[in-house]
Amino acid sequence: MTVLQTSFLSFVTLLGSVSAVALNSTLNSTYTPVAERCGPGTANITCIHRYGSILPPSFSRDPSPAVGYSGTLVPDDDSWANLVPTADFIVFNQDLGLALLGPAPKIYHNYIPLLNVIHEAPMYVPELNKLFIAQYGPPGNLTNIAIDLNTNPPAVEAFTTNPPIYQPAGGTFHDGYIYWAVQGNNLTLPNNLEQRPGIARVDPKTFKAEWLLNNYHGFFFGGLNDLTVDSVGDIWFTDSDYSWGLGLNPSAPQIQLATYRFRPSTGEVQIVDSTLQHPNGIAFSRDGKTLYITDSGLETVGKPGTENKGPGDFYNYPIRIEFTGTNARNIYAFDVERPDGAAGNPVITGKRNIFQSVEGNPDGIKVARNGYLVVATGLSNGVDVLTAEGSLIARIQTKHPVENVAFAGDDYKTIYLVGIGGVTKVEWDLQGPVPGEYFQV
Ligand SMILES: *[C@@H]1O[C@H](CO)[C@@H](O)[C@H](O)[C@H]1NC(C)=O
Ligand SMILES: *[C@@H]1O[C@H](CO)[C@@H](O)[C@H](O)[C@H]1NC(C)=O
Ligand SMILES: *[C@@H]1O[C@H](CO)[C@@H](O)[C@H](O)[C@H]1NC(C)=O
Ligand SMILES: *[C@@H]1O[C@H](CO)[C@@H](O)[C@H](O)[C@H]1NC(C)=O
Ligand SMILES: *[C@@H]1O[C@H](CO)[C@@H](O)[C@H](O)[C@H]1NC(C)=O
Repeated sequence: MTVLQTSFLSFVTLLGSVSAVALNSTLNSTYTPVAERCGPGTANITCIHRYGSILPPSFSRDPSPAVGYSGTLVPDDDSWANLVPTADFIVFNQDLGLALLGPAPKIYHNYIPLLNVIHEAPMYVPELNKLFIAQYGPPGNLTNIAIDLNTNPPAVEAFTTNPPIYQPAGGTFHDGYIYWAVQGNNLTLPNNLEQRPGIARVDPKTFKAEWLLNNYHGFFFGGLNDLTVDSVGDIWFTDSDYSWGLGLNPSAPQIQLATYRFRPSTGEVQIVDSTLQHPNGIAFSRDGKTLYITDSGLETVGKPGTENKGPGDFYNYPIRIEFTGTNARNIYAFDVERPDGAAGNPVITGKRNIFQSVEGNPDGIKVARNGYLVVATGLSNGVDVLTAEGSLIARIQTKHPVENVAFAGDDYKTIYLVGIGGVTKVEWDLQGPVPGEYFQV
């Protein structure tokens, strides 16, 4: 014991002042007040003491995934009820969190109201100063949304591509085109349209659309959920079964839910991972050496006959999404290796779970210019901001569920949070990358 203590002390001494601060703050583990006002007054910002790691033991949180972080009950510490549920921003890491919020963070709740269905695939097209958004449902609806940011308030324009693309779920703006991960599967659509899920691209100026992929060697996909383009032009995408649960696809999946890489120059599609329950959002680190994939296994597509109207009745038509709290709500990071250079087939290795959601499950994920991860929390109200390694910095609390986010504006310091029923706008100091500004392999 003596030996251990001595070596621990000399270890601390060797590490110097950084460890001494950590040790000191460990000693200050008082649990009240857990929450305090902090940061500039342009928004309601609440800092959480030591990540809330010690709460008065009468705390509780309903395990239902529908109960958010702020729905935790902390009856013996008033600071929680007074400052957490009403906060626009929750800060866990005070240094990094207040720095990314900057001197005048602002949130515009429900900035652009939209139909009360899921909205996804937000992408900013700088030359038009427009935000393109995909709309899920109602079943049979072939319309998507462009938000013109040149006017104040922004103008909402519904558009249909030529030919129509039924139910895109995710996407990115690359080389002048909208690339959509498409989930709709239906052979009897309006206008005699027949469609299988896959990848389509659209010219945002003319709305002319063309297909790049619609099958895996004769099987149809379950319903593509999201995609991203790497620096050599390969499209990496996730395939899921939400369209089946949302009534946008009459067919159960024919093949395992998985993540794939598609090479437009050759047409080859290759599976890269099949270990996630529900592969969902997908993004590369700024240097292209890490691939992030979110797993929304928490939300499962129920059996036919289990139709419900969703948590909070946010849908006006039946869906079959069920929630299992013990399923995955994780972000995985993988190393991207290119043993045969840019022309070869890359591999992903070193899978690691770097984050479990604080509420909801991770959905769309975007990487900021400095490498931070900005992650929508699915059918829950908010967005998490993490370091590249998955350390929780801060959380934005919205008044509607957020499925995905898009950086926009001249300096890319505005971010639009899109979800069910609307779009929330945030202005802060965290800068998004310029679309099409790619890392080098
Ligand atoms: C540790 O805490 C003590 C008492 O609060 C303080 O005097 C000392 O300066 C602290 N040390 C460091 C390195 O912060
Ligand atoms: C301990 O933490 C509380 C809450 O953050 C803070 O107000 C207080 O100043 C801290 N005390 C010390 C000695 O650091
Ligand atoms: C902060 O919250 C209070 C109470 O909800 C509200 O009255 C106030 O306008 C908010 N402040 C800002 C800057 O949004
Ligand atoms: C395909 O979509 C049409 C139009 O919404 C709908 O009436 C039909 O039921 C769908 N087909 C299947 C097999 O789901
Ligand atoms: C289809 O979506 C558009 C765009 O949100 C909306 O204006 C329209 O009412 C929808 N149509 C139906 C039948 O729901």
